[in-house]
Amino acid sequence: MPADTASLTFSIKPNANPMPAAERAKLFENLGFGTVFTDHMAVIRWTEGKGWHSAEVTARAPFPIDPASAVLHYAQEIFEGMKAYRTGDGRAVLFRPEQNARRFNESARRMAMPELPEALFLEAVDKLVRQDGDWIPAGEGGSLYLRPFMFANEAFLGVRPARDYIFCVIASPVGPYFKGGAKPVSIWVSEHYSRAAPGGTGAAKCGGNYAASLLAQAEAYKNGCDQVVFLDAAEKRYIEELGGMNVFFVMDDGSVVTPPLGGSILPGITRASIIQLARDAGATVVERPYTFEEWQADAKSGKLKEAFACGTAAVVAAIGTVKFDGGEFKISGGETGPLTEKLRTQLVGIQKGQTNDPHGWVKVIDGI
Ligand code: PLP
Ligand code: COI
Repeated sequence: MPADTASLTFSIKPNANPMPAAERAKLFENLGFGTVFTDHMAVIRWTEGKGWHSAEVTARAPFPIDPASAVLHYAQEIFEGMKAYRTGDGRAVLFRPEQNARRFNESARRMAMPELPEALFLEAVDKLVRQDGDWIPAGEGGSLYLRPFMFANEAFLGVRPARDYIFCVIASPVGPYFKGGAKPVSIWVSEHYSRAAPGGTGAAKCGGNYAASLLAQAEAYKNGCDQVVFLDAAEKRYIEELGGMNVFFVMDDGSVVTPPLGGSILPGITRASIIQLARDAGATVVERPYTFEEWQADAKSGKLKEAFACGTAAVVAAIGTVKFDGGEFKISGGETGPLTEKLRTQLVGIQKGQTNDPHGWVKVIDGI
């Protein structure tokens, strides 16, 4: 469904009972991921025949939802993940937000949902961050995680695209995604469960992909691992991605390998940024299929020097240990390798406004 409404006026209704600053400061002392939420949310509605309407920034509150609402039955839902940062000199910035707006519409198309004009997506994010600017943590490792999402809200049990949708952005001040902070993570290779299949929804950021990953993720936890990595569904040979991150391999000749986007992998914005930064640093980046057999053999022979995962929530995380049914191996002696560290530092530096931003990725939200 094509985008149909280019601009709307947001009504701004400030929360009558915002969290007192002292209470917020207390929460900021120990931020994990996704447990604390700001005072407001941005909402835009879509109705067939009317298009996008009723844009507002209002107090964060539950949605009344009809038990027949389509999302509860057929999972017509998509989301994005992005972050606002407070730079050392006090500016509020976003990292490549237009990429999230673009990918949101790619997901919408795949899930037969209405597209949201990119300018409206960006305005909703901008308006919410302005309203909740005091919620952007300053200092090392903190950021305001933004979660734009859209769901089918028509009360109807027939299987077809809904005729009513709600788009919403909520925000959550966050610290590290993994409990261990910047320590290398351990990864469980899921050889039985698939995340996404050819022709499926793997490249879309839809809730169903994450529901499908949970059992494999539970298996990872049971085996003492932080995250799961999925193999391709057809042959169960090729490394695809983690439950919520893309993956990279650094070879002894300095080249960097990452699985190609082929419809079953989420086209990560961090992934694209890392490819660019690695190329800027002179590395050869090859997007090619990489099998689990190769991974094991390269780790054993020493050809593989480093491996890391990347995504908005976790940024860049070295992979220290890989476990699977029947064995395990270490990478970089279980430590963070030098290229992983360099790319992570550079990316975080750009995101926090500390490092030169040669590609113009950072967008300042002025006035807050
Ligand atoms: N792969 C999956 C399945 C994800 O959920 C994410 C997180 O958004 C990523 C990769 C990384 O994408 P991005 O770098 O755009 O956050
Ligand atoms: C993100 O990195 O934004 C993600 O979506 C990963 C996970 C929290 C779902």
